[in-house]
Amino acid sequence: MSVQTLGSEVNATRLARVSSDALAHVPGDDGWPIVGDTFSILADPKGFVEKQAKRYGRVHRIRAFGATYVALLGPEANELVLLDHEKLFSSALGWGFVLDQVFPRGLMLFDFDEHRLHRRALSVAFKSGPMQSYLTQLNAGIANGLKQWPSDREFKFYPAIKQLTLDLAATSFLGAELGPELEAVKQSFVAMVAASIAVIRKPLPGTQLRRGVRGRAFIVDYFNRQIARRRERGGEDLFSQLCRATWDDGSLLSNADIVDHMSFLMMAAHDTLTSSLTSFVYRLAANPEWQRKLRDEHRGLGIPLVDPLPFNRLDEFEQTEMAFKEAMRLAPPVPSIPRRAVRDLVFKGFRIPAGTRVSINPLFTHHMANIWPEPERYDPMRFSPDASRDRHKFAFVPFGGGAHMCLGLNFAYMQAKCFAWHFLKNFQVTIAPDYRPDWRMWPIPRPRDGLAVTLARV
Ligand code: HEM
Repeated sequence: MSVQTLGSEVNATRLARVSSDALAHVPGDDGWPIVGDTFSILADPKGFVEKQAKRYGRVHRIRAFGATYVALLGPEANELVLLDHEKLFSSALGWGFVLDQVFPRGLMLFDFDEHRLHRRALSVAFKSGPMQSYLTQLNAGIANGLKQWPSDREFKFYPAIKQLTLDLAATSFLGAELGPELEAVKQSFVAMVAASIAVIRKPLPGTQLRRGVRGRAFIVDYFNRQIARRRERGGEDLFSQLCRATWDDGSLLSNADIVDHMSFLMMAAHDTLTSSLTSFVYRLAANPEWQRKLRDEHRGLGIPLVDPLPFNRLDEFEQTEMAFKEAMRLAPPVPSIPRRAVRDLVFKGFRIPAGTRVSINPLFTHHMANIWPEPERYDPMRFSPDASRDRHKFAFVPFGGGAHMCLGLNFAYMQAKCFAWHFLKNFQVTIAPDYRPDWRMWPIPRPRDGLAVTLARV
């Protein structure tokens, strides 16, 4: 990999804005006056990046969302940016623009040593003991939620799974007995998530961002009121785990840290799980042979079908995991990942000055035909141990990698397997033969029409 660091470390908070002139040597263009390529990216992010890559190469310059970026495409670029051995890239300064008004001080908004301390403190909530107890809640919540889903008529899958994921977060993240404030908590949270990906980035009256900022005020107040009680009472949910989490010296996290981490965790989990489970079910509906294979896999495990999914059997759901991965390859829930260079560097012969906004692109990498032949075809066998063996480690990056690799990765696989276990033993899912849902792939993939499926009880 051709990387050279040129400068010494700079103070990340004082980085100058890098002008288009300073990046004139990087191939690319400025797009339309004022808006740059914002609308082309919103309309068709995959088509746009593929077109630019063909025209300018895998390191190129774009202007969108009020800033100039250098797109770094492909597995080597992913490795450079995500592993970041030389501490060249700030996650906080990449994501801050999107997240800091409603999710300030979330884990992705810390860098380097400070980030390591926070990540270590939060990791306690993802150890095997707490994970087992989240699975108990997921099993109960999914079994109960699926009972309400209608069969033998067309049904919009996306809003239903979004609601179910939110209900599941309420129990496994916040605890089962939330009481009368449950609905307000959920609504505030939905407003915050919508605000984090809103196109208008000022909290003007009537905007999503304004509703998100209000939602945050409610959530901050709610969490603050709960912390002392959770510390006394115990509880196995994620919030109670964080209330008892400690720094390396054994002292407890502050209320502000708990509130910020907690809201960020809920955000990081919610739309990503909703999106990935929607793509997963769509692919199973469009590929009935895989639906059959997964059902056979589940039946072949010898777990009584009336039972919840046991924690100690998760690793045996191998084909289910492959099928879920292939759905995320085609529609990665985080299609692009932003960073900001905090030191000068050279990549593939291009000088990238400190302060440059860069973006890597899982959506592009996951469709590179030299890595994934017939990239549009759904084929979970790409993830068999044999097929995966010689593939670049950063060719498949739905969860990122390196220091900021998704902290909830095991939670996500666990929820996907638990969902598949309950869903497939209850339902056969189909779509109309000529139906091709129109996916809006950015900022998080979702079917524009909600995904029309039909469920038949099995
Ligand atoms: C299919 C579901 C999910 C996907 C595809 C996903 C994807 C990602 C990606 C790509 C990143 C890294 C972003 C970067 O490097 O800038 C990330 C970070 C993170 N994710 Fe997930 N995520 C998922 C589910 C979850 C869940 C369920 C949780 C929590 C329970 C979670 C918590 C986090 C946290 C805390 C981070 C920040 C990690 C850090 O900065 O150290 N995610 N996720």
